[in-house]
Amino acid sequence: MPTVPMKQILDEAVKGGYGVGAFNVNNMEQIQGIMQAAAETKSPVIMQASRGALKYTKMLYLKYLMVAAAEDNPEIPIAVHLDHGNNFETCRQAIELGFTSVMIDGSLKEDSKTHTTFEENVEVTAKVVEYAHKYGVTVEGELGTLGGIEDGVGSGNILLTDPAEAEKFVKLTNVDALALAIGTSHGAYKFKEAPVLAMDIITEVKKRLPNTPLVMHGSSSVPKNLIDIINQYGGTLKHAMGVPIKSIQEAIKRGVKKINVDTDGRLAITGAIRRYMTEHTDVIDPRDYFGEARKAVYETVKGKMIDFGTANHAGDYKAKSLSDMIEIYKAK
Ligand code: G3H
Ligand code: 13P
Ligand code: ZN
Repeated sequence: MPTVPMKQILDEAVKGGYGVGAFNVNNMEQIQGIMQAAAETKSPVIMQASRGALKYTKMLYLKYLMVAAAEDNPEIPIAVHLDHGNNFETCRQAIELGFTSVMIDGSLKEDSKTHTTFEENVEVTAKVVEYAHKYGVTVEGELGTLGGIEDGVGSGNILLTDPAEAEKFVKLTNVDALALAIGTSHGAYKFKEAPVLAMDIITEVKKRLPNTPLVMHGSSSVPKNLIDIINQYGGTLKHAMGVPIKSIQEAIKRGVKKINVDTDGRLAITGAIRRYMTEHTDVIDPRDYFGEARKAVYETVKGKMIDFGTANHAGDYKAKSLSDMIEIYKAK
């Protein structure tokens, strides 16, 4: 199947009541591990690249790995998505490269650190939407910023999403999907104590925007078994904590349809390579340990495809092309 617009994958997930994992990729082993999991579980999938990933792969290498993934898996709907685009130009470049979806993270300025105002966020997001839709490309926006609730809402740099603002934001920008801030954060250290998430925000936004697929960033579960493998083989990860799978399933029920996962893939790869290297001190063929890493990604992602309810939905629909989407956007 050629790569498909992310809007189609997410709209179908809204209809079917399941979630779809959006997995960050930087290399061939990650892409192959994810695609093996998708093929075996018959799951639609979103593969996403950060600006760091684009730089690491010099863009072109990543582009052709995605083309290979699509050609190798004709039965699987795959969306290729830009993660955390920081300005119009990055989004434009990703569209030129053939991505079927982009995120413009207008909640922060171009430095990806400083908060923007609501108006600034609307302005840059609407500009990207207007451009992307001309090419049939999906756009994800973000309102609010990531961070743990226990850090104190409003006291630090954390701003949870205001549902009334979310409704206004989608109407003003026409984004296809909206990332909410409900207390998650990126990385392996999301909570200091028990995980706390503002689930009511999802319910309230869903009530106001029933047809807009919602997105949860920072959704890695940081499983104890992966942390244990890393630490058993020389790692020093202390007090790592993620979002429990039960909370993700609850979020999916309430309206989250795109679930962003990067850290768990990193943990799986790191553990597999640490273990292999320790147990095979004479290894010199990178295919041996990269192969183990690929297997670890496959196992981790396969579990998520089952847990998020994505499995067995790949054949539910016929792929739309970007040209189909251009007509759909025009008719709106
Ligand atoms: O959004 C954050 C993702 O985990 C991407 O991370 O910028 O290090 O590639 P990265
Ligand atoms: P994690 O760090 O929890 O995997 O989140 C990744 C993410 O949100 C990418 O945009
Ligand atoms: Zn993110």
